[in-house]
Amino acid sequence: MSQLAILGGKPLAGKNKKWAKWPVSEESDAQLVAKITRSNRWSFDGPVEWEFAQKFTAYQGAKFGACCANGTVGIQMALEALGIGAYDEVIVPGMTWQATAAACVDVNAIPVLCDVEPDTYNLDLDRVEAAITPKTRAIIVVHLYGCVTDIDRLLRICKKNNLFLIEDCAHQHGTFWKGRGVGSFGDVSSWSFQESKVLSSGEGGFNMCKTKELFYKLYSLRNCGRPYPADPVVFGLKKAAPMDTALQSGNYRLTEWQAALLLGGLTRLDKQVKGRDANAIYLNSLLAQIPGVKVMRRRSQVTQQSYFNFAFSIDADDLGVDNRQFCQALNAELAMPDEFEPPYEPLNGCGLYKPLSKTRHHLGAAYKKAIDPKRFSLPVCEDANKRTGVSAHHQILMNSKADMEIFAAAVKKIIDNVGELRGVTPGEMKKYQGLAR
Ligand SMILES: Cc1ncc(COP(=O)(O)O)c(C=O)c1O
Repeated sequence: MSQLAILGGKPLAGKNKKWAKWPVSEESDAQLVAKITRSNRWSFDGPVEWEFAQKFTAYQGAKFGACCANGTVGIQMALEALGIGAYDEVIVPGMTWQATAAACVDVNAIPVLCDVEPDTYNLDLDRVEAAITPKTRAIIVVHLYGCVTDIDRLLRICKKNNLFLIEDCAHQHGTFWKGRGVGSFGDVSSWSFQESKVLSSGEGGFNMCKTKELFYKLYSLRNCGRPYPADPVVFGLKKAAPMDTALQSGNYRLTEWQAALLLGGLTRLDKQVKGRDANAIYLNSLLAQIPGVKVMRRRSQVTQQSYFNFAFSIDADDLGVDNRQFCQALNAELAMPDEFEPPYEPLNGCGLYKPLSKTRHHLGAAYKKAIDPKRFSLPVCEDANKRTGVSAHHQILMNSKADMEIFAAAVKKIIDNVGELRGVTPGEMKKYQGLAR
């Protein structure tokens, strides 16, 4: 008789176990949404939007900020505000959501995919330095899942090579590096408020920046090319922006209803981040004791860590199973369908990143060759996705401290009984799903 739930054994958590769910809201959010519905201010630089924008910018310790439609256009606007465009090279991590690289191609730049560190899944800065060429204009750093890139070294690299730094902070609302919010270090940062994110309005995005000049550009980029009108006055900028600060663009605004959910979410964000961080530290301390499991590295400069996903890796060679088998077994133990899964597909083989599929990117043979993701070698990303990486959405960290012990016990149970899993394919395991008691 098998011990593991995926093979018919008794699961560690029964089907009736209630796990925390995301997103969450409070009655006050619903009341503000209803109030907006009854008002005649639904969009266009509304008061709720700018109240949120100023509070969120201040929380992360940045100077200026503005809402936008989503995190994808946020990256695109960051590039455009910095004047990055045709044939400019931008260094991007090979492990990220496809939007980070797709936004570069959408401004006709060339994303140069760079491998990551095996113990943080963040940009490997030695490889970043090696990838810099005379055409490089910027680095987009993605502080992925629950780790932060070495910001101090990154800033030194950018300064030495005269490069812009864009921080893609889609995973990092509420993270602090040496007491200062991430997203305030780069020239521009970009954020996502899509449903799964730790600060969410279903969809939505944000940019932060360091200078008034960049703010004016970001303002006009999100608002059909209009210059900042100083109505309302935000960030103390009392004068309308000169016409020549405006750039042609489209409509990338968000609505007052979204801003209402964000304002409510922001009141809870810091407490939620602290709760997840405490649980992640505890869970990591338990996982670190299990042979065959490696926890992610937390840099000493991180003073508060937000988690979009919680990740760890397994020693696939030693255990004789890969991460897909391991995740399926873990999900069965916890009665959590699909919660644990491998980290992102590397962008050189990602089904959702196909830059040549859009006619607007057909800018000649040289450009076609330059943006072909297959030209990049990303062995660490590939190993993490195909063999060793395990990740789960941040909602697992919103359960109780005792639940962290259940997660660790489930991992240990699989490792203790890993022999049962060897040689069983993910497809074969599927037939056991639903049979577990
Ligand atoms: C790292 C990263 N960058 C950018 C994005 C794009 O954000 P959005 O979905 O709001 O367009 C996401 C969202 O999934 C992300 O995870």
